[in-house]
Amino acid sequence: MGKDAHVTRREGIPLLSEKAARQSTDVGFLSNGGELGAMTRTLDWSDSPLGPPHQWSQALKTTVGMMLAAQAQIVLFWGPDFVALYNDAYAPGIGANHPRALGRPAIENWGELWDDLEPLLAGVRNTRKTFAAKDRPFYVERHGYGETSYWDVSYSAVSDDDGSVGGVLCLVSETTERVLGETQLRASEARYRELAETLEQRVAERTAERHLLATIVETTDGQIQALNLDYRWLAINASCADAYQRIYGKRPKVGDSLHEFLADRPEHLAAATAIWGRALAGEAFTNIEEFGDPRFDRRVFEMKFETLLAPDGTRIGAFLTGIDVTDRLEEQARLAQAEEALRQAQKMEAMGQLTGGVAHDFNNLLTPIVGLLDLFQRKGIGGEREHRLVAGAAQAADRAKTLVQRLLAFARRQPLQAIPVNIGQLVTDMGELISSTTGPQIQVTVDTPEGLPEAMADPNQIEMAILNLSVNARDAMPDGGSLRISAKARTIERTHGSELTPGTYVCISVADNGIGMNEDTLAHAVEPFFSTKGIGQGTGLGLSMVHGLASQLGGALTIKSAVGSGTTVELWLPVSHAAAGAIDAVTQPKLRPLPAGTALLVDDEPLVRMSTSEMLSELGYRVVEASSAEDALRRVKDGLRPNLLVTDHLMPGMSGTDLGLALRNQYPEIQILVVSGYANNEGITPDLPRLTKPFRSDELAASLAGLAKAGR
Ligand SMILES: Nc1ncnc2c1ncn2[C@@H]1O[C@H](COP(=O)(O)OP(=O)(O)OP(=O)(O)O)[C@@H](O)[C@H]1O
Ligand SMILES: [Mg+2]
Repeated sequence: MGKDAHVTRREGIPLLSEKAARQSTDVGFLSNGGELGAMTRTLDWSDSPLGPPHQWSQALKTTVGMMLAAQAQIVLFWGPDFVALYNDAYAPGIGANHPRALGRPAIENWGELWDDLEPLLAGVRNTRKTFAAKDRPFYVERHGYGETSYWDVSYSAVSDDDGSVGGVLCLVSETTERVLGETQLRASEARYRELAETLEQRVAERTAERHLLATIVETTDGQIQALNLDYRWLAINASCADAYQRIYGKRPKVGDSLHEFLADRPEHLAAATAIWGRALAGEAFTNIEEFGDPRFDRRVFEMKFETLLAPDGTRIGAFLTGIDVTDRLEEQARLAQAEEALRQAQKMEAMGQLTGGVAHDFNNLLTPIVGLLDLFQRKGIGGEREHRLVAGAAQAADRAKTLVQRLLAFARRQPLQAIPVNIGQLVTDMGELISSTTGPQIQVTVDTPEGLPEAMADPNQIEMAILNLSVNARDAMPDGGSLRISAKARTIERTHGSELTPGTYVCISVADNGIGMNEDTLAHAVEPFFSTKGIGQGTGLGLSMVHGLASQLGGALTIKSAVGSGTTVELWLPVSHAAAGAIDAVTQPKLRPLPAGTALLVDDEPLVRMSTSEMLSELGYRVVEASSAEDALRRVKDGLRPNLLVTDHLMPGMSGTDLGLALRNQYPEIQILVVSGYANNEGITPDLPRLTKPFRSDELAASLAGLAKAGR
C-alpha cells in the first residue's frame, strides 16, 4: 500500500507534516474561501459538534466550498444543532456575533430570534421544502441593541452523503435600509398628500377667519387706529373715523398725517402728538382723556396704547384701542350726586329724629316751669327782689321755649295748624315789619303779584320763617345792601329734579346781595346748630326751622348762594285747594269772661298736671285730675260730668285725642282742648281744638275762650 509505505518511511515530524499535508489536501475545499475560509481552517474545532473539517462528510465539504466561494450572503446551518458556517459576504450581517458564531450551534448566537428562526429551519429540514420570503422582518441584537432587520431569504435543504437532510442552506440579502427608506418615504408621501388635500380647505378657513376679524374690527364701536413712526395712519376703523368726525368735523384715512390733520388746531395737535409720542417711543399705557374741538364736541376716551412691531421685531409704530366713556362718566357723576343727596337727606332725617326726641322731653319739662313762673308772677309772690328774679327766670324760660319750638320745627314735629293762607298779604305785612327793624342801610323791597293762590300753611310759623330768613339776610349785609322779599306761583313739572312732587306751589323768596356762602357753609347751613356767627351770636337753628317747616307742610326749602354776590332762599308751599277766603286765616281768639265749671284735667306727668291745674283753678274752674285716659273714662263712668276736658295727647295707653273723641260722642256738650307737645299728624285729628306746650296762663285762657265762642 503506497500510502502506508509513505507513512512508514517518514516517521516523526516528517510523518506529521505529511499528515498535515494530507489534511491540507483534505481541507482544500476551504482554500478559495476568502477570510472565512482561512478562519474555518484555523479554528479550533475540538469542541464543535461537527468536528474538524477534514472529517466532515463530502456533502458538507462540497457545500461549504461552494458557499465560501460565492459572493452572495450565505449561511449554512448543519447538523441537528444547526451549527453555523458562513461566508465573507454574510459575516457583516451578524455584527458583533461574528466571529464567535462560526462553528457554534445557532441557538448560541441567534438566541434573540431563535423562537422565530428555529421553526423555519426545522421546517425546511423536516419537509425539504424551500422557504423563501422577501423583506422578511427579523428581530436582532447584533450591535448591542435590539432592532428589526429585513431580509430577502431562501432556505433550502442540503442532502448529506447518506441522502438524509444534513443542513439548511440560507441565501439571504439584507434589505433593511431599503425597507426603512421606503417606509419613511411612504409616510412623508402620505403627509404631503394630506397637506395637499387640506391646503385648499385651510386657505379657505383662514380667509374666512380674516374676513370675520375684519368685519368685527369694522363694526365694533370700539375705536382702533395705528400710526407709523411718522404719525401717519396705518389703519383706522370706522368707529374711530366716526369719532374724529364727531369731535373735529372730519375723518382721517390711511396714509394721512396726524400733523396735517390737526394743523389748523395747534393746541389739539400738541395734545395728540404728546400722547402718541409716548406710544411711538415704545411705551404701552392706558389713559383717560378728553379730546375734541368744542365747536363740534368734546368727548372723553379711555385709550390703550401699544407698540406696533414688524414680524422681525422692529418697532414700526403704535396702535390704540379706545372707547368713548363720556356717557358712562356722566352717568357715574349723576349717580354719585344722587347718592350724595340721599346721604344728606338721611343725615337730616337722623338729626331730626334725635333733635325731635330731645326737644319733646325738654318741652315737657318746660311746661310746669313756665306755668309755675307764670303763677308766681300773677300772684305777685314775694317782695320786689323775688319779683325781679321770677321775671328773669320767666324770660329765660321763654327763650328756652323758642329754642325748643325751633328744634321741634326742624324735626317736623311742631304742632301745625295748616290752613289756606293769603301769602301775598302775609309777605306784605312782614315786609313792613322787617323794613322798620333792619335799619336804613338795608333797602327792603316786597314784590307779590295780584291773585296769588292761597297756600296751605300755618301763618304764624310762616311769619317766623320769613323773619328768620330776613335776619340771616341782614346779618349777611353788615355794610348794607338790598333785601327783596317776594312771592309768586310756580308749577313743578314732572321732570323737575327737586324733592317736590309735581304740582302748583307758592314760592316765597328772600334774596340778599350780601356776603354769600362758600360751598362748605352752603352744604351745612340747614343742619341744626350749624352757625358761622360765633358763640352767643347764632343758635344755628334758623334755617333748620324753616327747612323742617317747609317739609312738614309738603313743600321745600332751596338755597342758592355765591360768595360775594348774595343768597336767595326759597320757601315752597303747596297751594290750598279750599275755597279762597273761606277761613279767616289770622283770626286770633278774643279774650272773654270764662264760664266756670268743672274741668277734667288728664296728664300722665304729675308736674305738668299740677301747673295746668293751678292755671285752670285761677281761671275759675273746679279741677278734677286724672293720670291717664282710662282713669278719666272711669271717673266719667262713675258719674262725673265735666264742662271741660283738658287732656294731654301723648300718654301711655289711650291717647288724649281718642279720649276726646270718645267723650264727644257720648257727651257733645263737653268742651274739649287737647294739649300736645309736638305734631303727630296721624294721631291728632284737626277736629279737636289744640294748644301747644308749653303755654302760659293767658294762652290757655285764649284757647278756652275760642272754645266757648265756637261752641255757641
Ligand atoms: N343770607 C345768608 N347769607 C349768608 N350766609 C347765610 C345766610 N343765611 C344763612 N347763612 C349761613 O348759614 C348759617 C346757618 O344759618 P341759620 O339761620 O341756620 O343759623 P344762624 O343764623 O347762624 O343762627 P340763628 O338763626 O339761630 O340766629 C349761618 O350761620 C350763615 O353762615
Ligand atoms: Mg339765622
